[in-house]
Amino acid sequence: MKFFIDTADLAEIEVLSATGLVDGVTTNPSLVAQSGRPFLQAVREICAVVPGPVSAEVTATDHETMLAEGRLLAGLAPNVAVKVPLTVDGLKTCKVLAGEGTPVNVTLCFSAGQALLAAKAGAAYISPFVGRLDDAGQDGMDLIAEIVEIYSQYPGLKTEVLVASVRGVKHVVEAACLGADVATIPPAVLRALFEHPLTDRGLAAFLADWEKTGQSILPKQAAE
Ligand code: E4P
Repeated sequence: MKFFIDTADLAEIEVLSATGLVDGVTTNPSLVAQSGRPFLQAVREICAVVPGPVSAEVTATDHETMLAEGRLLAGLAPNVAVKVPLTVDGLKTCKVLAGEGTPVNVTLCFSAGQALLAAKAGAAYISPFVGRLDDAGQDGMDLIAEIVEIYSQYPGLKTEVLVASVRGVKHVVEAACLGADVATIPPAVLRALFEHPLTDRGLAAFLADWEKTGQSILPKQAAE
């Protein structure tokens, strides 16, 4: 499964992408607002740090303006994926941009029917929002299972299931169990994926025992 980071915070992106474990980035207008950065500049900067796809979302709601915005965003860097909302105008825009060779991430997906439409419109990614469905009293992972099952019926289909609105490690692991292609993960959740108290305790014990041996793997520095 690919890991994208769900943030527009360049400092976070730089630190986390240095792990070599980050395959892309997703942003949305709320995340851009949180970052306090000028949008177009932020997209250029993020694209320069992460070689994988960087989703940048249009903010118009009508097809013509969405298309103009999408083309402008796509021109910012070769790794921009244009993000459009799952509306009639959004999918019309997706169809045109995809035809022009621009990868499109269709966002705000809350049903399998919507995911079917996005695939038909040539989306590179469909973004079902699991956390927001959980918040609304449904099980977001049921939707992921349904979309993965439907898409698997059509092996020629290129649309990837990008699990969005991830709230914790459990969402990431469950998405992987279901065979989702991508999870877009908030920085705090990505950090939490690394952690386990037994890892910390085990490492401390190994290092304490190693210290007792007085050995060093690398040659010891000559005393100054
Ligand atoms: C990413 O593509 C989505 O915009 C994001 O995951 C939404 O997350 P939220 O529901 O926590 O705002």
